[in-house]
Amino acid sequence: MSSQFPAVRPRRLRQSSTLRTMFQETEFDLNDLVLPIFVEEGVSDFGVITSMPGVLRIPESKLAGEIERYARAGIRAVMTFGISHHKDEIGADTWNENGLVARMARICKDTAPELVVMSDTCFCEYTSHGHCGVLHGHTVDNDATLANIGKQAVVAARAGADVIAPSAAMDGQVQAIRRALDEAGHSDTSIVAYSTKFASSLYGPFREAGGTTLEGDRKTYQMNPMNRREAVRESLLDEAEGADCLMVKPAGAYLDVIRDIREASRLPLAAYQVSGEYAMIKFGAAAGAIDEHRVSRETVGAIKRAGADLILTYFAMDFARDGI
Ligand code: PBG
Ligand code: ZN
Repeated sequence: MSSQFPAVRPRRLRQSSTLRTMFQETEFDLNDLVLPIFVEEGVSDFGVITSMPGVLRIPESKLAGEIERYARAGIRAVMTFGISHHKDEIGADTWNENGLVARMARICKDTAPELVVMSDTCFCEYTSHGHCGVLHGHTVDNDATLANIGKQAVVAARAGADVIAPSAAMDGQVQAIRRALDEAGHSDTSIVAYSTKFASSLYGPFREAGGTTLEGDRKTYQMNPMNRREAVRESLLDEAEGADCLMVKPAGAYLDVIRDIREASRLPLAAYQVSGEYAMIKFGAAAGAIDEHRVSRETVGAIKRAGADLILTYFAMDFARDGI
């Protein structure tokens, strides 16, 4: 045998940094990223979130300054989460024209009109019980919540939100929001639906960040993490209800689901690298076990590779500052 073995040598295309870059299949940049932010009313100082090192609760009075800083750094979009001091049984502050949801959207839009404002649309940060809707006994009343979520969406849109992002995991929420927006004259406001949202243990640090007071869990409305077929079904339902973009949350442990939905729908797809994913990388790096920048780049890149067009990540400002 004269032919040399092995004839096929994939290592050839890895021989220099330029070759490796030229043959790199997946890239992401700031246009793909959304920075989730926590805004607290009624306080004057930044608040430390011990389980999310590097992420701070922003006092409402300093939101404009922060938004300016993000826009200058190249951030394209934020997802706003409010830390409310006006909680009640149903989360009525969310559809108050001068409530925190509306004020956050207004401040962001007035400060940096070109920055896309996505309004997380839920109730858990505004309800005394911490559930994502109206509680009847021990269960969240789906249809009673739908009426309220439409009102919240309209108020957020009127205040300047470009995108409504419903995360309450109620059946029919996308359709309810689409109808309410259209009736209020906001047919151009888009809906990025948290269409496949798992009842995940990876939201732990968010509970501290968002100041939620949840007792129990969300397993009667968020999805069982072990269900792959149902994950596709949930997203296709939101597409049929009028979503403009779908979402998988969390991201890193659900790359198979991202790929499945990418192949089942032609809508754009977002994925949310959640607080627990962020915390694992931060604490792993702080312990000297992994390199933070490289791991954050690899995990976000993998989410893109799996099929996500947009990635929500608490690392977005780090990428803006340090490069990708
Ligand atoms: C609540 C909401 C949660 C997150 C975003 N919106 C928590 C939950 O569902 O319990 C989690 C985000 C994160 O962990 O980074 N609607
Ligand atoms: Zn919620």
